[in-house]
Amino acid sequence: MYKILDKRVLNSEVTALTIEAPFIAKKVKPGQFVIIRADEKGERVPLTVADFDFDKGTVTVIFQAIGFSTKKLAKFQVGDCISDCVGPLGVPTEFGNPRKAIIIGGGVGCAIAYPQAKALYNMGVDTTVIAGFRNKDIVILEEEMRAVSNNLYITTDDGSYGQKGFVTNVLANLISKDSYDLVIAIGPVLMMKNVAKTTEEQKIKTIVSLNPIMIDGTGMCGGCRVTVGGEVKFACVDGPDFDGHLVDFDELMRRNSLYKQEEAHACRLEAEYND
Ligand SMILES: Cc1cc2nc3c(=O)[nH]c(=O)nc-3n(C[C@H](O)[C@H](O)[C@H](O)COP(=O)(O)OP(=O)(O)OC[C@H]3O[C@@H](n4cnc5c(N)ncnc54)[C@H](O)[C@@H]3O)c2cc1C
Ligand code: FES
Repeated sequence: MYKILDKRVLNSEVTALTIEAPFIAKKVKPGQFVIIRADEKGERVPLTVADFDFDKGTVTVIFQAIGFSTKKLAKFQVGDCISDCVGPLGVPTEFGNPRKAIIIGGGVGCAIAYPQAKALYNMGVDTTVIAGFRNKDIVILEEEMRAVSNNLYITTDDGSYGQKGFVTNVLANLISKDSYDLVIAIGPVLMMKNVAKTTEEQKIKTIVSLNPIMIDGTGMCGGCRVTVGGEVKFACVDGPDFDGHLVDFDELMRRNSLYKQEEAHACRLEAEYND
């Protein structure tokens, strides 16, 4: 059992849980994830490790309560225990030796972008963060990201906070004026696809963190199959980071929507159960 030591509600949909998991905290690196089961009958939910503390033996996950299992997880309180937390899984992010990097987070993707920005900033890399949200009410981690970046740009689709527009508007402007040698993008698949398109002409190394549906997280089930550079890869063991210029994003979007009906059905059952 894994005890919850801290809980923060970051906005109406996004929660941060800090979990006692000393063996994971000892080994985890930026870019890796855990698979959580809230209780013995729970689904396996892959969540990126947003932060960790080696000395305290804790890992922090930040997630959007989007469906049945994440809504269940969001109801847990400090002192409660979740039944399983497996990890660290996946390959840590390979940053190389960049001089100037841009880290882009979209919505809850900022939770995953944060450890990447923190690692680069601590390596002495000139780090710019672009964080995009639909509107002001769902902005998260602003102060945390400011503390680990040389420049922070917030965008909102409706202009209610920061710059109006998409993260790609800011990105296109920045790369037209200065040279960067690394871009990392984490967020909705369409956002990552458009970031990769924006950096393609200048051939800027672009890493994306993919979120296909995962089941076992160990390369056995094939659920997380993605196509990268024409080759089949399993995101749980070969990723989740990949070269954004080589990913077949359209296939990923198709595969991620395969279970929409079942997911909606699970949410309806949960709502009926709670009435
Ligand atoms: C490597 C990885 C890291 C992730 N990190 C985070 C994170 O840090 N924060 C966060 O909010 N979300 C993260 N996700 C997505 C998160 O796992 C899903 O939102 C969650 O599983 C949804 O489950 P649900 O039952 O609440 O929703 P459902 O209603 O079942 O599904 C909602 C949507 O979530 C996705 N999803 C559903 N089941 C899975 C699954 N088993 N594996 C992956 N995606 C699924 C699908 O796109 C689906 O349309 C990550 C996914 C992956 C693969
Ligand atoms: S989740 Fe099963 S192969 Fe990756």
